[in-house]
Amino acid sequence: MKPIQVGLLGIGTVGSGVFEVLRRNQEEITRRAGRGIEIAAVSRRDTAKARAIVGDAAEVVADARQIIANPDIDIVVELIGGYGLARELVLEAIAAGKHVVTANKALLAVHGTEIFAAAHARGVMVAFEAAVAGGIPIIKALREGLTANRIQWIAGIINGTTNFILSEMRDKGLDFAVALGEAQRLGYAEADPTFDIEGVDAAHKVTLMSAIAFGIPVQFDKAYVEGITKLSAADIKYAEQLGYRIKLLGITKRAEKGIELRVHPALVPSKRLLANVEGAMNAVLVQADAVGTTLYYGKGAGSEPTASAVIADLVDITRLHTANAAQRVPSLAFQPDALSDLPV
Ligand code: HSE
Repeated sequence: MKPIQVGLLGIGTVGSGVFEVLRRNQEEITRRAGRGIEIAAVSRRDTAKARAIVGDAAEVVADARQIIANPDIDIVVELIGGYGLARELVLEAIAAGKHVVTANKALLAVHGTEIFAAAHARGVMVAFEAAVAGGIPIIKALREGLTANRIQWIAGIINGTTNFILSEMRDKGLDFAVALGEAQRLGYAEADPTFDIEGVDAAHKVTLMSAIAFGIPVQFDKAYVEGITKLSAADIKYAEQLGYRIKLLGITKRAEKGIELRVHPALVPSKRLLANVEGAMNAVLVQADAVGTTLYYGKGAGSEPTASAVIADLVDITRLHTANAAQRVPSLAFQPDALSDLPV
């Protein structure tokens, strides 16, 4: 069967990770998807930079709309970021009958209701595992693994930049600005780091988790958002002396009336798991009625962790294209020889 054809709108850090991981793990990914996945085309205004990343492996175009207009493309991956052009392109891709994968939490937190309605009307999927907590499969956990549960609350460290800054300030006594510069240098921060340090990025992510967990529309405008810019090294030190660490938490929970949605620095007792999540790592705690508490921990940003999530969505969508229902759910059943060489 011809591989499913994918077009990347924008190619940079995440896009190059997608290429690399697809190339490296091609055999496993193809087996799990039931069909090959091929990046057929990529777009970037500076085509020379795109060419430097993809070589001859894919068509390179300057205008993302050329990919949307290409009838051979089945899935469009939006990696442009921001709200303006990205929104237009995602809606155009949906109108053209393409499935969409995006890592763009800002876009979905603000325009998600419009985008999901358009996708529903057109019968295509919008998948966004990479939009929340990078490589941690928290969207799939909430949507699939915990689907039997009534979720009570979610609390997480879902912005690596601020967690890195708070860790550096505490461990090395660094100034806020120096730690922020280091987070930017390491590629954790958003293009506009205001979104990180003011809690907006975390609020985008908790808004999306809340919508899935509680079955409500995406309502970023209802979130209480407070970042870490008012924190000083002294606050961090005094908290430590009292047995607490300061963490920027994204929290959503059932309240007496409706659902709470908030991001703010919180005092977490030093012995708690969340208090010990250091550096740019992310962690999400979910409290649900049947399973109890579950914890998800891992890298929330970076080229390959984010690519891992993007490709998971590509595999999901590809599976749904296969005619064989058994392959729609990952299973070992269709690879019966897999265990034969292993010692028992
Ligand atoms: N700026 C984000 C963070 C990147 O620091 O977590 C991943 O969304």
